[in-house]
Amino acid sequence: MESLVASIPAGGAAAAAAAALADRAGLVRPKNRLNAPPAEPYAVPGLPLIGNLHQLKEKKPHQTFAKWAEVYGPIYTIRTGASSVVVLNSTEVAKEAMIAKFPSISTRKLSKALSVLTQDKTMVATSDYGDFHKMVKRYVMTSMLGTSGQKQFRDTRNMMVDNMLSTFHALVTDDPNAPLNFREVFKNELFRLSLIQALGEDVSSVYVEEFGKVISREEIYQATVVDMMMCAIEVDWRDFFPYLRWIPNRSFETRVLTTEGRRTAVMRALINEQKKRIERGEARISYLDFLLAENTLTDEQLLMLVWEAVIEAADTTLVTTEWAMYELAKHPEKQDRLFKEIQEVCGNETVTEDHLPRLVYLNAVFHETLRRHAPVPLVPPRFVHEKTTLAGYDIPAGTEMVINLYGCNMNKNDWEEPEEWKPERYLDGRFETADMYKTMAFGAGRRACAGSLQAMNISCVSIARFVQEFAWRLKEGDEDKVDTIQLTSYKLLPLHVYLTPRGSKEMNS
Ligand code: HEM
Repeated sequence: MESLVASIPAGGAAAAAAAALADRAGLVRPKNRLNAPPAEPYAVPGLPLIGNLHQLKEKKPHQTFAKWAEVYGPIYTIRTGASSVVVLNSTEVAKEAMIAKFPSISTRKLSKALSVLTQDKTMVATSDYGDFHKMVKRYVMTSMLGTSGQKQFRDTRNMMVDNMLSTFHALVTDDPNAPLNFREVFKNELFRLSLIQALGEDVSSVYVEEFGKVISREEIYQATVVDMMMCAIEVDWRDFFPYLRWIPNRSFETRVLTTEGRRTAVMRALINEQKKRIERGEARISYLDFLLAENTLTDEQLLMLVWEAVIEAADTTLVTTEWAMYELAKHPEKQDRLFKEIQEVCGNETVTEDHLPRLVYLNAVFHETLRRHAPVPLVPPRFVHEKTTLAGYDIPAGTEMVINLYGCNMNKNDWEEPEEWKPERYLDGRFETADMYKTMAFGAGRRACAGSLQAMNISCVSIARFVQEFAWRLKEGDEDKVDTIQLTSYKLLPLHVYLTPRGSKEMNS
């Protein structure tokens, strides 16, 4: 064992860990070169033809991958039918793949469902790294998500948080003893913000020609966000057996094409309304106005990019903030610590984005939530298009790659008591500020998330203002409801809480 570890190439700590774990589990290693470490990562035993597919039936593969990592180590391969997939479960190896080995792993491998829903990679997030990606990432950063883009929408973000607080106050006044549904309130305001940024208007309804009727904002949300998220995890078994592609899979095709068609009809209607506004000479600050002025995209590309801005703004920030409020409501002592920090830093002033750099504990709450409840547990799949090495192992061209952020953040070698939600872990002096980004919740390297600044601005200011104005308490019996659903890690059961306005009699007594 000793000599095996010693012979592992530099940078192969993950391989060493894998070898140690596999030795302990008595596993057979793949073919070795004489006196050399295993050439390729360990293969999780599976069945002929289907490989490991039968072990991944549940729609939460990140949890299965993390369990396998405890046996096979931080890097291993699985087979999904005809494809070979390398799965990464530690920060060190994931970083190596996303940063150092990026040139060999810069393309995406999409499922059939995702290819249809993204119009064959016509989005920033799903496109392969190349001229189109560079151009559209620049567009989205310049107009909306970079530092100056974000400044333009600061009033919109403030309005969003003010509206949420007004709704909370109204609900509490209405019935102080009823738990309120956090997600309903946050979701409505966040979706409004995403429409204002993307389209320039606080759209409340739109006429959709294909449906022959006017649809409400709630229905727009359903067609452009909820249905798309659910459909994105639809599985076409032919993805795993390309040689059987000739066999029809009609129920899958109907479901995906119908969902895609509804999204496109709604987005077309929304964009056409705004084009009429622009023709009337009413320019506004929005992503759509910016893209039209650039005049470099086809109608189809324009539609996809504007939809991307809507869905990305409306989803993960909600997931993160809901989990953060769940944890703070569950841990009153941590909520108190945050409240005290806010009082010390802000006094009687309302928390604003300007205060964020000085709210150290708030920042830790945000990053610890991203770690414990990674909103994007699996990085959108990558594809190894030219052979490379990872953690000292050979990875052949044509391998698919899954980066399991959930697995990285639950890895006991990287994190003490990873199951625990402990913002303090960043504040005990052993961590650098940069360590918070160790969660890689936003990915890393050239494909890192474009919207991390917006997510942080919205989530952190919301959390701070929610705690500044109310004391939060979970609905009885909800303490252990940590199940998730969907592509992003939504809480399975929406958060229900009791809010008590700070300064009210109950709080002071
Ligand atoms: C807490 C909230 C968020 C999390 C955890 C998150 C996470 C991620 C992750 C893991 C990736 C993939 C990175 C990779 O492939 O290496 C990504 C990409 C991306 N995200 Fe986010 N995201 C969040 C919020 C947002 C928001 C608010 C927007 C826009 C409004 C956004 C826009 C994007 C875009 C455009 C990409 C593609 C970047 C590229 O491929 O170059 N994200 N995000």
